[in-house]
Parts: sequence; C-alpha cells; structure tokens
Amino acid sequence: MNQTRQRILAAIDAGPVSGPTLADELAISRAAVWKHVEALRDEGFVIESDDDGYRLIETPELSASALAHGLDVSFDIEYHEEIDSTNRRARELAEDGVTDTVVIASTQTAGRGRLDRHWDSPPGGVYSSIICRPDLPPAEAPLYTLAAAVATTRAARETGVDARIKWPNDVLVVDENSEKSDGNDGNSYETRKLAGILTEMKGETDRIAWLVVGIGVNVDDPGVEGATGLEAEVETVETNTFVQRLLEEFAALRDDPDAILSAWRDNALTPGRFVRVETPGGEVVGRALDIESPGTLVVEPEGSDDERVRVHAGDCEHLRPV
Ligand code: BTN
Repeated sequence: MNQTRQRILAAIDAGPVSGPTLADELAISRAAVWKHVEALRDEGFVIESDDDGYRLIETPELSASALAHGLDVSFDIEYHEEIDSTNRRARELAEDGVTDTVVIASTQTAGRGRLDRHWDSPPGGVYSSIICRPDLPPAEAPLYTLAAAVATTRAARETGVDARIKWPNDVLVVDENSEKSDGNDGNSYETRKLAGILTEMKGETDRIAWLVVGIGVNVDDPGVEGATGLEAEVETVETNTFVQRLLEEFAALRDDPDAILSAWRDNALTPGRFVRVETPGGEVVGRALDIESPGTLVVEPEGSDDERVRVHAGDCEHLRPV
C-alpha cells in the first residue's frame, strides 16, 4: 500500500488542499504530488482540481487504494481484478514470510472451495484471502474460520442483508417467503448461500506457521440455484465499505479470541436445528445443540437414549423436522 497516496486521499477527502500545501505536508515535491494524484486518477478516483486545490469527489469500487482509504486496521491490500485463486496467491505470499496482508480479487479463474471443490467466482464478487501468523496450536485454527464467518455475517447485516451462519462456515440468507408458521421451531425455510470460507494453513504440531482465511462473497446475483448475492438481496451495496467492515470485524475478533464463540452463536442458525452432517466417519443426524471451542458441533442424535456426538468437521445440512 502506498502510504503517500493514502495521506493524499485522507487530506483531499476532507476538503480542497492545494498542491504546495500537500507537498509541504508530505515533504515531497509538487511534481511528486501531481504524479501521485495522476496515479490515483488512473486507479479510478475522481479528483477535481481548481484554484482551491485538489478535492476527492468519488472513490472507485475495489482497488487497493480505495480499500485502504479509511480502513481502520493495518492490513496491506493486494488487489487483482482477476486472478486464478486468492488463496493460492496468499499461500505463495505466506511462504515468502508475508503476514497481515489481504489478497482481494473481483473474479477468480480457479477459485477453490472446501473438500477440493470448485468455487464459482464470476466477476462482481469479492474473493479475498487474509494471511495471518497466529501464535496458536494448529488445533485452534478453526476459531479463525468461525471469526471469518462472524465478520462476514456482521458486515453483510450492516448492508441490510439478513445473513446467518450455518455450521461451520457457510453464510446464508433465509428466504422469508419460504418460512412456515407451523409451530415446528422455525426449521422449515429455504436458504441461499451468500458466502463460503476456506481456511488453509501450514504448521507443526504445536504452532501454526501461517494461516490463510479465504472468504468468497457473492455481490452480484451469481445466477446459480441455491446461491444469492448481496445486491440480489438489497438494492445497493457500498462494496468498499462492506470489505472494510469485514476486515475490521475479523481483526477485532482475532484480537479477542474469547469473544469468538459467543459472537458465532449470536449470528448462527444451526444451534437448535435438526441437522444431517456428513463426517469422514459417517453420517450424524440429530438436533444440533451448540458449538464448543474451537468449533466443534455438539449433536444430540435421534433417539433420546443416544449419547451426544461431537463433530469436528463435515458437511452440514439443516433438515426439516418430521
Ligand atoms: C466453500 O466451499 O464454501 C468455501 C469457498 C471459499 C472460496 C474462497 S473465494 C476466496 C478464496 N480463494 C479461493 O480460491 N477460495 C476462497
């Protein structure tokens, strides 16, 4: 991220500032100010200049400078209009020792989902991968996935979209029109997937070396059955603000790991629902009771005498009660 450009943006966002004043404040030449302003214009910023000086009129959607401008956490941003996979690029940077950097793209040609599935990444989405180096054992890594799900859900809800989490890390929107008032715990509704999360890491038994939290959010309607996008749910979304809020919420939870589970519960649909979970060890069907650290789902299987089952990973489906 270019610190000088960020300082210019902050200054001219507050009102007109002359070239000489900017040059003085930033201790650079007037020619250098002009070059930075031109570079920002090339990135899509609309910057007016008149006798009073430079003034920021419009910020483009999704560019490195636009995302960094006003971002309240210290992540570096690497933006690509198109990339194969932001997780692939983030892993590459992580191997080079980079941390606290977010790789963001508007479309991916080889987006990856969980369980080696393909992740459709058409233009008009926000595909991001956050590189972290937490001082945690690998077993605690799922907490970061939960934090990303909470951060995505909170940022989506701030745009007016009724987003909720399905265990462990799908962000869904409930279709209001499909809800039935049949007194069965509200289990009968349709949902559409808004976002998914894929966390990858490298580590030894006792320590994570790096963690890449990949978050794919549909903004435009992806036109795929069972999926939705922010702008399919509400008329307009300020994409830069959405991404900034997501990163700020993620950073806040990362700094306060004890708050993650309760924040997850507050935003989740799964506890209390009947679920079917496909796990590596077979299928678990029953009522989801709660989650435990670092993201384990506690299920009470069908048949009251059965013991509670703790599920660490799997594909979860919310069922309609019989
Ligand atoms: C899922 O299967 O639900 C998880 C999907 C995760 C997709 C995101 S998009 C950004 C990042 N880059 C990838 O290639 N995958 C993740």
